[in-house]
Amino acid sequence: MSVQIGPVPVDPPLILAPMAGVTDRDFRLIIRRIGGVGVVTMEFISSRAIVGGFPKTLELMEFSQEERPLSIQIYGSDVDTMVEAARVVEELGPDICDINMGCPANKVLKGCAGAALMGDLKLAEKMIASVRRAISIPLTVKFRLGLNDQERNYTDLGRICEDNGVAAVAMHARTAKQMFRGEAEWPEIARLKELLSIPVFGNGDVRTSEDALRMMAETGCDGVMIGRGVTKNPWLFQQIAARMAESTVVEPTVRDRRDLILTHFRRVAEREPSKFALHKLRKFTGWYTHGLPHGRKLRQRINELPDVQSFLAAVEEFFEEILVEEAA
Ligand SMILES: Cc1cc2nc3c(=O)[nH]c(=O)nc-3n(C[C@H](O)[C@H](O)[C@H](O)COP(=O)(O)O)c2cc1C
Repeated sequence: MSVQIGPVPVDPPLILAPMAGVTDRDFRLIIRRIGGVGVVTMEFISSRAIVGGFPKTLELMEFSQEERPLSIQIYGSDVDTMVEAARVVEELGPDICDINMGCPANKVLKGCAGAALMGDLKLAEKMIASVRRAISIPLTVKFRLGLNDQERNYTDLGRICEDNGVAAVAMHARTAKQMFRGEAEWPEIARLKELLSIPVFGNGDVRTSEDALRMMAETGCDGVMIGRGVTKNPWLFQQIAARMAESTVVEPTVRDRRDLILTHFRRVAEREPSKFALHKLRKFTGWYTHGLPHGRKLRQRINELPDVQSFLAAVEEFFEEILVEEAA
């Protein structure tokens, strides 16, 4: 089962959703190496920061060949800056460039970027058309249902995308006002799919392999984009791909989880200054230990640990205990 984003095959038709502070190079590689993902994406990158050439931003956009196919998502409110940023992105050589029209964060909305563009479809169209003309790699757009319940205009934006040469769209089936509250409204994905002939990726609340197949069956969407579900279960794409291929779905063992966590954390520890590393490790520990016995105890304990080394030791000890318990 495969779908094309322009000339780029997305096989299987599963995309790692962009997540700020999460989908960095380490995480993307982990997910890619486990397998089952069609396209990986970065966190959204400010067009202004790209055009300004900020070293930290350029560093964020580094990727390795192993991650392909890969998409870089940009955001902004000024058309010329977005065009310029898209050109810089194209030069870096990703497979796809994506425009964020769904971010509901106040900081982004105030700058009239992200989901705010759904409140100004004229500007959105100008941006899409201008960026489309400026680059030759496939352009995609990610958006929500609309700004709020009164202004659900995703069908209009979807049409604008299709009419202006966008290769595929992804829709998180909530309004911007909802942020992450309530449940994603999958029937709206079905409506969008009915309307458009370019590929539609459904997004929102896919947590299990069953969810992914159900979203495809219920909405007819061409593929599924997943964010939070993969942070709690990095094997999710592999499991969905197995289900799609009608082969056995394998659950990771405790040993698999330990190896993944420690490999990831050691990489973070090598690269990042201590304060940031600790913050990141705490966040990931919360997700990675989801559903494990005594996970809460570890999560409480690590809040008190002062440095990365003691953190890593605590995680190792935690898994040793579970493995001993399992063997008993
Ligand atoms: C921590 C976090 C960061 C996010 N950052 C971005 C982002 O940079 N760009 C974007 O388009 N969406 C971002 N999102 C939204 C996700 O891409 C996705 O649309 C949303 O989480 C719903 O999908 P899910 O239910 O599979 O998580 C973020 C979500 C989370 C939880």
